[in-house]
Amino acid sequence: MIEKIGIIGSGTMGSGIAQVAATAGCKVSLYDSKREALQRAEQSLLKILDRLIEKGRISSEEKQRIHGNISYVETLDALSDSEMLIEAIIEDLEVKQELFQKLQKIVSKKTIFASNTSSLSIASIASVLKSPKRCIGIHFFNPAPLMKLVEIVPAVQTSEKTLKIAIDTIEVWGKTVAVVKDTPGFIVNRVARPFYGESLRIFEEGIANVATIDWAMKSLGGFRMGPFELMDFIGNDINYTVTETVFEAFYYDPRYKPSFTQKRLAEAGYLGRKTAKGFYNYKEGAVNPEADENVGLAQKIFDRVLVMLINEAADALFWRIASAEDIDNAMTKGVNYPKGLLAWADEKGIDWCVTKLDELYDEYREDRYRCSPMLRRMNKEQKTFF
Ligand code: NAI
Repeated sequence: MIEKIGIIGSGTMGSGIAQVAATAGCKVSLYDSKREALQRAEQSLLKILDRLIEKGRISSEEKQRIHGNISYVETLDALSDSEMLIEAIIEDLEVKQELFQKLQKIVSKKTIFASNTSSLSIASIASVLKSPKRCIGIHFFNPAPLMKLVEIVPAVQTSEKTLKIAIDTIEVWGKTVAVVKDTPGFIVNRVARPFYGESLRIFEEGIANVATIDWAMKSLGGFRMGPFELMDFIGNDINYTVTETVFEAFYYDPRYKPSFTQKRLAEAGYLGRKTAKGFYNYKEGAVNPEADENVGLAQKIFDRVLVMLINEAADALFWRIASAEDIDNAMTKGVNYPKGLLAWADEKGIDWCVTKLDELYDEYREDRYRCSPMLRRMNKEQKTFF
């Protein structure tokens, strides 16, 4: 078992990953190029641990143990005895490559190099290493201590041994692993796109206002947040950028086309909760759109978004991005979907999915609405996913 972990970048993700590893009993060295970031990480961890004590989840000895497992270090040399490195620094390929190049001169020849990148290819990060077979993607979700899912992404260069060590380590840390091919958006950021994109499109077509679409997805689908509430929560700048990155990375496949509505909000600085204005206005006393609680309309909205999500999940399976189990686990454990999308497809019936998609395709004649060959083939063979 891996005992010594080096984490680089002590921001949102790095500090959360450090907490997870330290709680599981690893010795963690947490490094950041900014001293203030390290100090902030330590203060915030102590606060989190105190809150866990208040809630009765951990004892004060447990707090001391977890805190004692993390050293906040100010040089890369202090990471020299790490058996595994996880970088969670700025999302910039050259900066990540430069960091790994420096680190390979410091650590042992056995050390595993993991990246928490959301959007860069692991192959490109690994390519700068003398031994790229020891590089892998280990993608946590925010907040890392709470979200169960971790996507593990072997690059073309990654060895079976590295993959096995990464899976074993993350499972020992109490997480659910989904193994996914090194492709844009991995599972979650790819399969979740229609939740936002199709909802934005329904809004842009004037079919319903944002409150009605949110209401439809929550009341009929059981989603914890509606798409517009969620985009405001994530930040329209961040959510837009993820969509744009995935769209470009898929050679402009129209399924992932970003929305002008969201782009304009981002440009205007209407980022959502963090600026108190996005699709909704969060200032006290602000007037917001009201949901039209018309069940027939809600059903149409929900069916359209759901079938586009199912299509995306089925297509990820078609292209062998991950297994059916991992695709469903990723959505329930990475973004808290009420059900796995492939299980949902079985429940609705594959025939229902194909018919709904073909109706959309017939109406719009856009490639965006093409039904995945996976669904069509399964329908012909009268198969189910599980
Ligand atoms: P953040 O901005 O909160 O933290 C990044 C930290 O890295 C900062 O403290 C910064 O001082 C430090 N840093 C930057 N360049 C550095 C360098 N060359 N050497 C050492 N430290 C450096 O960023 P966040 O959100 O934690 O993201 C980190 C990584 O995790 C990115 O690759 C991001 O794509 C990925 N990620 C982010 C998620 C999120 O929801 N925020 C979810 C999953 C992955």
